[in-house]
Amino acid sequence: METKIFNAVTQYENGTKIGGNVIRSGGLVAFPTETVYGLGANGLDGAAVKRIFEAKGRPADNPLILHIAKKSDLRELWTSVPDIARRLADEFWPGPLTLVFNRSSIIPDEVTAGLDTVAVRMSANKTALALIRASGVPIAAPSANTSGKPSPTTAQHVIDDMWGKVDVIIDGGACDIGLESTVLLLSGKPTILRPGAVTKEMIEAVCGASVNVAKSVLKPFDASETAAAPGMKYRHYAPEADVIIAKGDAFTAASIIRREYDRFEAAGKRCIILSSAESKAFYKGRRYDIIGTKKDMSTMCRNLFAELRLHSSDADVIFAEAMPTCDLGLAYMNRLLKASGFTVLEE
Ligand code: TXA
Ligand code: MG
Repeated sequence: METKIFNAVTQYENGTKIGGNVIRSGGLVAFPTETVYGLGANGLDGAAVKRIFEAKGRPADNPLILHIAKKSDLRELWTSVPDIARRLADEFWPGPLTLVFNRSSIIPDEVTAGLDTVAVRMSANKTALALIRASGVPIAAPSANTSGKPSPTTAQHVIDDMWGKVDVIIDGGACDIGLESTVLLLSGKPTILRPGAVTKEMIEAVCGASVNVAKSVLKPFDASETAAAPGMKYRHYAPEADVIIAKGDAFTAASIIRREYDRFEAAGKRCIILSSAESKAFYKGRRYDIIGTKKDMSTMCRNLFAELRLHSSDADVIFAEAMPTCDLGLAYMNRLLKASGFTVLEE
């Protein structure tokens, strides 16, 4: 397949208009959002949605998110809109929050993988919104990576995974947030299935009550748990290199990383350390990248997937420091733990 690429700044009109036509006629369009790049198809067309699964190599039992351009579009996608959904949407949409509730009959089974619920979000990205408006339908879109790889946060990542497999790529530069949206299940007690930039603390402030966090967010998926979050059972965000996390205070974590780095290097392995700005002095003389600052976890979130991709070819082992799991740290640690296959070293 021939892939066309458009620049979201210089070719905004053309990119979103042609992209919209492609979606409407059953094709695939990769587009930027504030979280990660999405791989979109007409969310009301089961055959078009199937092509997403083929392009990604995604297991058919992992459902997709529908992307809408205005809040009122929710009404036709769900059986009803609960009051809590309305309040959360008013507070966080457009933005990085996906809400899951009972699906209406217009949703094809391909989108929900046969579940009774459907995930919906309204992105804050201007190009994404224009594309949805131009297509005139809700756009079903997972992250635009090959299944199992870290999600794409630049158009180059999308090109690396999807060239020749999609009709259009719209290049909107680097994504602001860099991690996928928070997924919140609203049937039953609100439960975070996947943490993101709309944090547990922010959701609880709107709900006025505590919300649950799925066990699989910080622990390996346990087959005995009901698969409310089908995406959780797959190994995710895995670069080709092995990822090892060191846990403890800054000094302890750095000591573990230095010891393991030297051990792997002596065995002929190529190592890289994803260091916080605060810890770089610990790693002098070894190969490290500064991934962000602990004072602002959003910097670390923004760079994580790009760093995992960057070093999937030039390193055998990637070391990273564990961060506290409050606020944005929960999303960061969820992705890092999954990328590592839950490999955590501590004293
Ligand atoms: O930020 C994002 O959410 C990005 C951008 C493109 O919008 N999209 C994204 O999609 O990350 P994807 O398919 O990579 O992740 C969707 C997650 C999966 O873990 C999936 O299992 C879960 O949402 N999900 C979708 N529908 C669901 C449902 N009905 N019930 C439970 N989980 C659902
Ligand atoms: Mg994904």
